This record gives sequence, structure tokens and C-alpha cells, in this order.
Amino acid sequence: MATYLMCKPSFFDVTYTINPWMDPGLGADTAKAVRQWEALRDAYLGLGHEVRLIDPAPGLPDMVFAANGATVVDGRVYGARFLHPERAAEGPLYEEWFRANGYPEVLTAKETNEGEGDFLTLDEVILAGTGFRTSEAAHREAEAFLGRPVVTLRLVDPRFYHLDTALFPLGGDNVCYYPAAFAPESLGVLREMFPKAVEATEDDALAFGLNSVCAGDTVVLTAAATTLAKALEGRGYKVVPVELTELHKAGGGPKCCTLELRA
Ligand code: ARG
Repeated sequence: MATYLMCKPSFFDVTYTINPWMDPGLGADTAKAVRQWEALRDAYLGLGHEVRLIDPAPGLPDMVFAANGATVVDGRVYGARFLHPERAAEGPLYEEWFRANGYPEVLTAKETNEGEGDFLTLDEVILAGTGFRTSEAAHREAEAFLGRPVVTLRLVDPRFYHLDTALFPLGGDNVCYYPAAFAPESLGVLREMFPKAVEATEDDALAFGLNSVCAGDTVVLTAAATTLAKALEGRGYKVVPVELTELHKAGGGPKCCTLELRA
């Protein structure tokens, strides 16, 4: 079973635009976001996972996206350093949580990186996105600190601005991804490394179907990604659908709300 860190969207809203999904003119329904987030948390608890919580902070409407708060591998915490000033204050708050909760090895990053939004950990390697948020220099910084090879993947479609909007690990040695989100050379790397990968359609990707959380043979998947749900079931996975339509308005889905604490 996994341990996840989550942040209740008590102050969630869409008040600025830092990705193509966000429209401050439309805003968001905070109460509905909280209900949908609670259903996601309950889904994890129902599957037997542990959920830990960090307090949300007023004025940080995107803090619900805990995946961006850090990258944790073997108990080591590589801190986030956000690209946009609107989210910059989240980095130190997450770091503070780790220091207060008994993590002795916490690195304050020198390089721009948005945590597990762009770093996805497999058994032997860490896949790392760049192109929109996390810098390649951060890939090297993470590799040196976390002690696992980091493979750089270049994202090319602004709608899929974090790696976790375009790809999710299926266990420790396989992945599911949307091919058109990647530059040709990165797609070549993925095809070579993962000949058994599940490839998703554009509709699944737009529904945030790649922003999923797999543990064992179970995938927590946004309900709107219906084609992908069938493809995964065809491969023997159990799919747990969740509705996160309100958080989608900020460009987020289930994985964005979930930071895995790897002991
Ligand atoms: N509005 C947030 C941003 O653009 C959404 C972050 C989603 N998180 C993620 N892990 N993809 O930064």
C-alpha cells in the first residue's frame, strides 16, 4: 500500500492563468472542488492507502496540487522551486511540512522544478519532464540527490505542461502515455524503453486520463477517460473512476492532487 500527501482545496479558485486550462473569468466552485477532492481521498482510503495531510494556505489557490510540492524517493525529499511567482510560496510550505514530519534529508532546490508534476519514479529510473516548467538542470540536480538515473523527456504541447498530464507509471517498469505530447526524440526514448506501454488517445489525454495514480493492479482514473478505462481493463487493471471536474478548470486531475511519500 502507498502513502500519499494531500492538501484540501479549501482556498481553491482560478484567479490567474499559468496554463491553457485556466480561465479566471470562469472561476471555480470551491465547495464542489472540496467534495470531489474528498471523494478522491476516500477512494485512496478505501483501497487501503494511507493519506497524510498538509494544511492549505489562503492566497495559494493551486496548493491542492500536492504532486508539485516535492519529489520523495527512498525517504529523501527533493524540494520544489516553482516557475511562476503565483505558486512560489508553496515550495517552502511543503518543505516545512517535511522537516516538521521527521524527514531528515530535505534538499532546497537551486533549480526550477515542480516536484512530481515532472518527476515520475519507476523502479530503476526517474522519468523527468521539461519544456514548460521543470528545467533540465533540475533533472541533473535531482539525479545527484536522489541517486537514481533521471531520463529527460521533452514536452511540446502546452495543454500537457507537466509530465504527469501526459504519462503515468503502470507499476515500476511500464507506463501509459499520450504520444503527441512528446518531442520526437523523447517519443523514441519512450518506445524503446517501454515496448509494452499503453498509449492513450487525444480525448483521453484532454480528459486528464494520463493524470492517474496506479498502485498494484489498480488505477485511480478520471471518470471522463472512458476509452482509456477500457484499454486498461483489457490489460487486466482494475479501474477506480473519480470525478475531478472542478480541479480540471485549473489544469489538474487525480495525480496532481497526490504526492507519493516513498519510504
Ligand atoms: N494550476 C496548476 C499549475 O498550472 C495546476 C497544477 C497541476 N499539477 C500537476 N501535477 N500537473 O501549476
